[in-house]
Amino acid sequence: MYLLKLGGSVITQKDKMCTLRKDVLSRLVREIAEVMRKDRELIIVHGAGSFGHLRAKKAGVHLGLRDLDGEEKRIHERILAMAHVQADVRRLNLSVCEQLENVGVPCFSIAPASVGLMRGGRLVHFDMEAFRHSLGLGMVPVSFGDVLLDESMGFSICSGDQILLELAREFHPEKVIFLSDVDGIYDRDPKTHGDARLLPHLTPSDIEELSLSGKEGDVTGAMYGKMGEAVEMAKTGARVIFLNGLVEGRLPRFFEDEDSVPHTTLEEAR
Ligand code: ADP
Ligand code: IPE
Repeated sequence: MYLLKLGGSVITQKDKMCTLRKDVLSRLVREIAEVMRKDRELIIVHGAGSFGHLRAKKAGVHLGLRDLDGEEKRIHERILAMAHVQADVRRLNLSVCEQLENVGVPCFSIAPASVGLMRGGRLVHFDMEAFRHSLGLGMVPVSFGDVLLDESMGFSICSGDQILLELAREFHPEKVIFLSDVDGIYDRDPKTHGDARLLPHLTPSDIEELSLSGKEGDVTGAMYGKMGEAVEMAKTGARVIFLNGLVEGRLPRFFEDEDSVPHTTLEEAR
């Protein structure tokens, strides 16, 4: 079993409101179909990219009902923005599923808001039945970063990465593969440091040494948030792989010969 994250940085243009990278997505679904031909069991989770982060950050959706001083108008606006983000990420999910179906991958869409519940921004309940049953039919469950009801904040944002962690704990995949817009994990952000070094192999204890920007960046903590979840995935025994999804062929080539493509592996022990 494999878990695959299609990062928002890959399938959308992250700085342009609700903008799908159609060409990248249609290539990636073909590559996924190719990888699937070997009868591999797969769950896909995608990020929200510009279908989630931009509006969520602007309207404070990640704060739930916090910081509104009980003002009715502001409460109403925040709830409306939450509903809007929810609709936008569903539209993105529909595009991903349509593209997968176009290449013959039978996907089963699972909206986290319908099967999960949070408290203080962390999942406290996530029903796995739909994942289990759709896998049983030979389908590929497709879930995504979403806005969920939250017992203490009203609602909050759940990253695709947090969902992957729950799935890793439940299904004990051999590998969890993250596709993002860089070749893997570097000692510092490669977008802002030309001399950043790609780190081929990491263990959870290496992570504290890294410079991971983004903690205050997007509403789910960007690379900083992602690595927090990834370390916990590695602790379940999964090998966590970081690959560049913007480069054609990286995913299928990784499955053929891991050493032939640049990537980072994070695992509990070398
Ligand atoms: P995604 O949308 O694919 O889930 P994010 O945008 O949240 O991914 O995170 C990917 C980004 O993290 C990269 O574009 C990169 O600029 C940034 N980043 C920050 N620090 C690092 C690092 N140490 N190594 C790799 N990428 C990093
Ligand atoms: C974000 O999910 C969900 C919302 C903003 C609603 P992710 O954190 O997994 O999305 P990406 O991959 O960073 O875009």
